[in-house]
Amino acid sequence: MRIKNLFSWKSWAMVLTLCFTGIQGVTAQKGPKWLEKAIFYQIYPSSYMDSDGNGIGDLPGITSKLDYIKSLGVNALWLNPVFESGWFDGGYDVIDFYKVDPRFGTNTDLVTLLKEAHKRGIKVCLDLVAGHTSDKCLWFKESAQADANLQYSDYYIWTNNIPKSEQELIAKRKASPNPQSNTIGRYVEANAPRAKYYEKNFFECQPALNYGFVNPDPKHPWEQPVSAPGPQAMRRELKNIMTFWMDKGVDGFRVDMASSLVKNDPDKKETTKLWNGMRAWMNEQFPECVLISEWSNPKQAIPAGFHIDFMIHFGIPGYPSLFFAKDTPWGKYENSYDYCYFDKAGKGSLKQFVENYGDAFRATKNLGYIALPTANHDYQRPNVGGRNTFDQLKVAMTFFFTMPGVPFLYYGDEVGMKYQMNLPSKEGSNERAGTRTPMQWSNDADAGFSTCAPDKLYLPVDTENGKLTVAAQENDPSSLLNYVRRLINLRQSSEALGNDGDWQLISEVNKPYPMVYKRSAGGETYIVALNPSGKAVAASFPTLGGKAVELVMGDKKQGKYRQGKTTDKIELKGVSALIFKLK
Ligand code: NOJ
Repeated sequence: MRIKNLFSWKSWAMVLTLCFTGIQGVTAQKGPKWLEKAIFYQIYPSSYMDSDGNGIGDLPGITSKLDYIKSLGVNALWLNPVFESGWFDGGYDVIDFYKVDPRFGTNTDLVTLLKEAHKRGIKVCLDLVAGHTSDKCLWFKESAQADANLQYSDYYIWTNNIPKSEQELIAKRKASPNPQSNTIGRYVEANAPRAKYYEKNFFECQPALNYGFVNPDPKHPWEQPVSAPGPQAMRRELKNIMTFWMDKGVDGFRVDMASSLVKNDPDKKETTKLWNGMRAWMNEQFPECVLISEWSNPKQAIPAGFHIDFMIHFGIPGYPSLFFAKDTPWGKYENSYDYCYFDKAGKGSLKQFVENYGDAFRATKNLGYIALPTANHDYQRPNVGGRNTFDQLKVAMTFFFTMPGVPFLYYGDEVGMKYQMNLPSKEGSNERAGTRTPMQWSNDADAGFSTCAPDKLYLPVDTENGKLTVAAQENDPSSLLNYVRRLINLRQSSEALGNDGDWQLISEVNKPYPMVYKRSAGGETYIVALNPSGKAVAASFPTLGGKAVELVMGDKKQGKYRQGKTTDKIELKGVSALIFKLK
């Protein structure tokens, strides 16, 4: 996979392109061909399959389920961090980036997983926590020593002086009931031999790595320029970590907090330069590998060099207005809407999503991909609150698998696993525990996830009497699981419905129910019509002029496409989703 011959004519052509056009020349390609058909499945490794009966998932467990994963029709995996960790933030507090955490197995277990996945045509991407480590990492321990000239001294940001406002934030954290999990403020009081404070990136136990500062303030001697030896060594270390795993067959990385690396960079110019450099290097050395950002601003992330950026619970607004009802845990964080769109009440709006998504889509569609995941380990699943029937979940899934970009299916959403309310925090999860519960395979004890005593499970299972399991749905043609498989199959059968097809809302944005959009490519056109509301609704739009219309997905009793001379009309019953193909 690595391009060994540095002196080929191709690499010189690439260097020349870079010299004359900057990164645009490189990002003008959307990336390796496999992205055109990529469909990701995200796995939280502690919760997928436990092979040794200790109640926690592991890598051999994931390997044992690859045939099931393949049967879904997905062809790529993203694993949340598998590296040795302090387990204060679900693996995002990394102690050793070059070593698999013993709870998951060994480096060799990961290589076995890679080989077995590749045999089945499945790519595997790891989670690269580029912005910070655990405070238990040896680099950090060394940098905390009084001698500031050791190998890792400048991997972190140390200072004896912080503004008064920051001191107040530290005091506020100390006073809060759970100070360790509090993410506010920028510095942590460590009273280390090296200095009094260090800069953190997220929780207190996650010291920020030092990629340098934009316009360092001469009155802040700890702010090193991006060109300083420490920040440059950090960039080399990041490449070493990536190289180590890509040499073993890893197919790319989801980059945690990708926009956070260079400090004091409000317009992200230096952070962009950093990632542009990484992408150019990857194009050269590992052209089949991909970079996926947790940035949530595709208009910044994709020109910065990422192949895929998410639109999720933070960043450019839109996703919460579709999926987070006010009375559900993530609903209370967002105040700009009263009802979410995918809700039976039918009082939601499409405006915020359509404006922000449409803008980002048009700006990035020739450069990279936007991903709208079904959920992830940081926010609630689609099955939450009043959105709890298979019919409702099918409407949501139809949306996720018919939008452009690269789909990401969060493990368990294919069987409608629910967000479990009010679980105690686990390993720094806080409310995220409810979305990280064990995969529900069967109606056996521990839902087939483990053989441990139920009280030893990583987190509890809740199958609703076996209903929300793979076993219950596997052989039922009308199940959510088989619906998701059919959707994926349909998407993969058509360029128009696929990752690169065009997208256009054709219903009126201010008459949000139903939502009707057109997907097209290569002379093919599909129409997707979604009605998450409980009421019968209809939308009219200028005729698309097709000769005939074929219903390719959904129940014909649920609605109708009426073709007219100047206007076409789609009628839909409550809670329904139909996909039509124009002939
Ligand atoms: C984003 C990750 O998705 C989240 O789980 C983690 O807590 C923070 N970054 C810090 O790494």
